[in-house]
Order: sequence, then C-alpha cells, then structure tokens
Amino acid sequence: MINRVNDRVKDLEVPGIRVFSNEVAQYGDGVNLTIGEPDFPTPDRVKQAGIEAIQNNLTGYSHNAGLLELREKVSLFFEEKYKILYDPVTEIVITTGASEGIDSILRTILNEGDEVIMPAPIYSGYEPIVHLSGANVVYLDTMKTELVPCPEALAALITEKTKAIILNYPSNPTGMTLTKEQMDGIVNVLEKHDIFIISDEIYSENSFNEEHVSFASYPQIRHKLFLIHGLSKSHAMTGWRLGFVLGPQDLMDHVLKVHLYNSICAALPSQYAGIEALTHSRNTPLAMNTAYLERRDYVYERLTSMGLSVIKPTGAFYIFPSIEITGLTSWEFATKLLASEHVAVVPGSAFTIYGEGFIRISYANSMETLVEGMNRIERFISG
Ligand SMILES: Cc1ncc(COP(=O)(O)O)c(C=O)c1O
Repeated sequence: MINRVNDRVKDLEVPGIRVFSNEVAQYGDGVNLTIGEPDFPTPDRVKQAGIEAIQNNLTGYSHNAGLLELREKVSLFFEEKYKILYDPVTEIVITTGASEGIDSILRTILNEGDEVIMPAPIYSGYEPIVHLSGANVVYLDTMKTELVPCPEALAALITEKTKAIILNYPSNPTGMTLTKEQMDGIVNVLEKHDIFIISDEIYSENSFNEEHVSFASYPQIRHKLFLIHGLSKSHAMTGWRLGFVLGPQDLMDHVLKVHLYNSICAALPSQYAGIEALTHSRNTPLAMNTAYLERRDYVYERLTSMGLSVIKPTGAFYIFPSIEITGLTSWEFATKLLASEHVAVVPGSAFTIYGEGFIRISYANSMETLVEGMNRIERFISG
C-alpha cells in the first residue's frame, strides 16, 4: 500500500534537528545542545490551574476558537504589552501549539503553485507545510546581510506568484532580532504588495536588547497580517500545546474553519492553564531571561575564544556560530562532534542550505551542561 501514500507526504523528510538529539540519548555522558525548549518547568500556578481544570471536569470541548476568557486574556496581553488591538470575539483563535497555527494559516491561504518567501536560514517547521499545499518556497538569503533581511533583496523576489512571506523574529535558529528601523524597511516593501504576512513571534518574550516590536503594530499591513504566538517558549509550556493566531476578522473566519476541522479546539485544561499564565504569571519570562542572558554571554565568550565567528544573539535562546574554520560541512561537524565528544548540536543545514557552514547551539540548558559542552567543543576544535 505504500505506493498509495500521498506523494507530497512521501517526499517529506524527518527534520535534521531531531537526528542528533535522538542519537545523543544513547550515550550515558551525552551533552545535548539541540533542545528547542526552555529547561525550566511550567510555573507552579499555571500547572495548578491545569490540574484544577481536570479535577473540576473541565475536560470537554470549548468553543472552536477557544475559551472566550482566554481569548480576552490574549487580547489584553497584546494590547497592554505591544499596543496592538485584536478583537477576542472575531480575531483570535487558540490553536494546538503555534505549530497548528502555522498549518491552519498556510492551508487557509495557499493554492498550488503559490510562492512563499522566507528569509533564510529559518526554522524548519514552515517549508514542509508549504509543500503539502503544493506551493513553493523562495528563500531570501540573509547570510551576506548579517542575518537580517535586506528590503531591496526582498522586493526583487516578489512576483505575481508570491502569496505570502513568513517572518520569525526573534529568530530560530539565529537568535537575531530586528531593530525598528530594519522592520520599517521591510514593511515599506510589503505594504506595496497584496501578499500575506505571517509573523511568528513566539520568542517575543525572549528579547534581550530592546523591547520587542511586533509587525502587527504597523497599521498599514494589519489587514493582511497573521500573528502567530503561544506560551510554549515564554512559559515553558511546550507539552501543553497551546498557541494563538491573531488576524483580521475576514481572514480569521477562514482560519477558524481549517482549525476546527483539524483540532475542533485546543485542549481544554491547557486553555485554563493559559488563562493563568496570562493573568498572574506574566512575569515568568523575565526570570528565565536573566538566566538566558548569563548563559548567552558565557557561550558567546567561549565560542569566540575558540576562534569561531559568531554574531551575538539578541533573542530566543539559540546561538549560531560559523564553523568555517574547521573546513567541515555542518553535518560532518555535528556527526564527528557527536561521535568523538558525545555532544549534540544542530547542523546549520537543517535550517536550509543557507545555514551551511554554521551550527545551532541552544543555551536553554543549565550552566553546568553548557560549561561541559563548551569544554568538549573546544577540545574537538583544537584536536
Ligand atoms: C519559530 C518557531 N515557531 C513555532 C514553533 C512551534 O511552537 P509550538 O511548540 O507552540 O507548536 C517553534 C518550536 O521550536 C519555533 O521555534
């Protein structure tokens, strides 16, 4: 029967990101620097809200768009923190993690043959979904512009076929954030074209240099922008599977249909936990950021002192050093490092070919783990 499986699904590959984390698990002394989730537990109050929901039999379906109370909290959070207004009744859908939001939006807007622009290197979760819809990805190379999309290069990629652009700042895998000026340049280009803007700002709460600015705060593009968000990273809730999609009502009506056919609704106990996270636990990310900053500085110092060239990241919890001096491809580097030092990192090529020559290290790890990981990487490089 295998030949009867959907051809596009057959063409999908298991993400490179997982390969090394699966393999490092087999070593008793393995150091896993691939992890893309906070190493902190979900805050106690948030856990308690989920537990109480279960105990009170709040375990059924909710409204397809999610509990109105949660949508109101989401709306208030974005209004108070980022000065952006979305109507909780018509413009917000609670999804099963940001991942389902990405899937529901892309399936809402894409037709076969459409093109989706993505600055690269970029998170590996978008391209497969674009391909499942029969659409194509067009990469905007950021490697020569210090990992920041160049507005002129973006304008040159836009054609009749362009349906959307996906932006992800703070970025996985590079840890880059954009300045307001850089965002202005991108918005100036995008406002002139009828293309959707999907802004995945799931790492907004992990912005280190300056306060995060959302693409949703530009009124001139609001009518064609989807904002993807969630609590996975900000509140260490990856396993609760809770995400949000915000967008203009006319578009969200359609997203809601796709969402309700694939999920009905997000898990109800998680939604109650989400209400707590956005009510009394808004400051949770601050404590984590203090730890991330210390770790980022440590890892940055160590990598530069090993002679690796690296841009100091300003958000998320990833760092993306060049391994060019080793003469290895990123896959070879990660494979050899794993075999000889039992350290797992993600090859840059897992984030498109534009990431070749780089590796992604996650510093969502304890200092102890990072010290050990850096010692071993140093030994590997000097060997
Ligand atoms: C940029 C980005 N978007 C979305 C996701 C998925 O988030 P969720 O776990 O909420 O589905 C990830 C996970 O690593 C991510 O890095």
